[in-house]
Amino acid sequence: MSTSTDDLAASTAETYRAFAGQAHGRSPRYEELTLAVAEDPVVLRFLGTLPVAKRQPNLLFAAARYLLDEPASSATLRALVTDRSAELTETVLTRRTQTNEPARCATLLPALAQLPQPLALLEVGASAGLGLLVDRYSYDYDGHLVTGTDPRAPVLRCQPRGPVPLPTRVPDVAWRAGLDLNPLDVTDDDDVRWLECLLWPGEADREARLAGAVAAARRQPPTVHRGDLLTDLPALISEAPRDATLVVFHSAVLAYVSRPQRAAFARTVGGLGAIWLSNEAPGVIPGIAAPGSDGQTFLLIRDGAEVVARTDSHGSWLDWETTALAT
Ligand SMILES: C[S@@+](CC[C@H](N)C(=O)[O-])C[C@H]1O[C@@H](n2cnc3c(N)ncnc32)[C@H](O)[C@@H]1O
Repeated sequence: MSTSTDDLAASTAETYRAFAGQAHGRSPRYEELTLAVAEDPVVLRFLGTLPVAKRQPNLLFAAARYLLDEPASSATLRALVTDRSAELTETVLTRRTQTNEPARCATLLPALAQLPQPLALLEVGASAGLGLLVDRYSYDYDGHLVTGTDPRAPVLRCQPRGPVPLPTRVPDVAWRAGLDLNPLDVTDDDDVRWLECLLWPGEADREARLAGAVAAARRQPPTVHRGDLLTDLPALISEAPRDATLVVFHSAVLAYVSRPQRAAFARTVGGLGAIWLSNEAPGVIPGIAAPGSDGQTFLLIRDGAEVVARTDSHGSWLDWETTALAT
């Protein structure tokens, strides 16, 4: 049975309505814009000309911001779709959703600090590698301060909930590497501009954090290798030092690959002898029951089996009270 154009437009509209829930309380402008797109036949028709994977709200809005030099409104987005559709199509097709949120390090730090040191960190889906600088940032967990190795790097604020094992120091990192289909280069102004365009209007703290993290990364850039997490992980792992605790981690990445591919990735990581920390939306990791999702909560899962914590998807809180949900 073929899917009609009307069905596709309806499901795209549904995707945009669901995104409004993620933007709620964070970006009133994007909440309003997503709801407007869901009702706008002109923008929905434009989205229908794109491959399904390229219809995401984040990607469309970032591409519009890139071309307009400011966040889109429903009127400027519609004008862009009408008057500059070729440019908009090219921007969407050649770029990806690669939002790099350094604050997610604050939700990973307690789990990392519990491991035997030093660490060898391998982040898959690392984007520009800002998540690899976990030891360089400083942290403020509601007054509990942890000082990073770069005094000029941002202080990441995160509200701890429940018995979070807050560390007294950042971990020792002996080696770090990222893997990404399309590594972004922190020293390239256009790549950094794209990272800025991916932020949501109304979140001034994220803009300041990104600027500070990029400045820190530019002082000592992380290495992010071009490659696919589905095929290129074992080769990269062979470069890690043997006398360090190897940690493979990721956040906001596995949702971009299919369910069978997630299962294949889980089997690959399981056979590597590494600690595996996953920070993804509920339902993404195979075999872990998914509680109802508000679109803003991730689960921090160790070794594909143990739910360690619930985390804010942008790193602003960490709730350690969740009981294991492995099925
Ligand atoms: C939303 S970004 C998240 C970036 C970073 N993990 C963070 O939390 O800030 C998702 C990243 O995953 C990468 N990605 C998606 N599929 C991938 C794959 N199959 N292999 C490697 N990287 C992938 C994208 O290129 C993008 O940089």
